[in-house]
Amino acid sequence: MNIVVVVGAGRGLGAVLSKMLVQKGHKVAAGLRTMEGQENSENLVYFPMDVTREQEIKDAAESVKKWMGNVDVIVNVAGVLLPSDRTNTLLTEKLEDVRQQIEVNALGIITVFREFLPIIKEGGLFLAVTSEGGSFANSGALFPAYGVSKTTANKIVQILRTTVEDKVEVAAVHPGRMNTDMGRTTAQIEPEEAAEGFCDLIEGKIKVNYKEQWFIDYLGKTMPL
Ligand SMILES: NC(=O)c1ccc[n+]([C@@H]2O[C@H](COP(=O)([O-])OP(=O)(O)OC[C@H]3O[C@@H](n4cnc5c(N)ncnc54)[C@H](OP(=O)(O)O)[C@@H]3O)[C@@H](O)[C@H]2O)c1
Repeated sequence: MNIVVVVGAGRGLGAVLSKMLVQKGHKVAAGLRTMEGQENSENLVYFPMDVTREQEIKDAAESVKKWMGNVDVIVNVAGVLLPSDRTNTLLTEKLEDVRQQIEVNALGIITVFREFLPIIKEGGLFLAVTSEGGSFANSGALFPAYGVSKTTANKIVQILRTTVEDKVEVAAVHPGRMNTDMGRTTAQIEPEEAAEGFCDLIEGKIKVNYKEQWFIDYLGKTMPL
């Protein structure tokens, strides 16, 4: 049994993963941007966690620690792809929208990592859901600000893992092209398939050499940078 924090658990992958982890016998602290009548159960408790609100994430880490002590795994799933980013280029998209996607998709990782690091057990695991869209190998101009934010997110993960050295394992994970609100137009898999992969990563059923592999997909395969 692992104690897992899933940040961004309201919809899509985060919602599916939280429930799947509980079904598999784990305890989950699920972070939401907006609390909307979700019901807590013995092993699934919801906490406010808007990744753009530093104090809220700090408070959440304290509340999670009070609820179940130090945790084994953090999965930061929270992400946004604004409608304007589907139709604009970097020549036309409002900078405010570009900024918002960087704020959530990239800086949100720093905030969650900073505030939760003190309560991750030694040797624990921090997975940041980024995207193949953040890879330089992906040279298209589709979803431009999202791509910028996810490349920044990957770099943040690379720097964070070096910063903490061996205290915890840190990796960026591409979850596959999922059939969710965000990914419906380009989907290849259901979020359940991605969530199964994340469960296998968390349970160690998929072996990853985190010293060498720090940008992987949901099956543990190394992604191109
Ligand atoms: N779908 C794909 O094909 C695909 C491909 C590559 C990478 N990804 C990445 O995978 C992750 C999950 O994507 P998804 O497809 O499940 O997306 P989704 O269905 O749009 O869900 C996104 C989740 O992130 C939450 N979120 C947004 N802003 C937040 C904030 N400021 N603080 C906390 N939570 C916030 C949303 O909360 P609300 O419900 O409150 O809005 C929602 O629960 C994202 O990081 C995404 O970029 C997805």
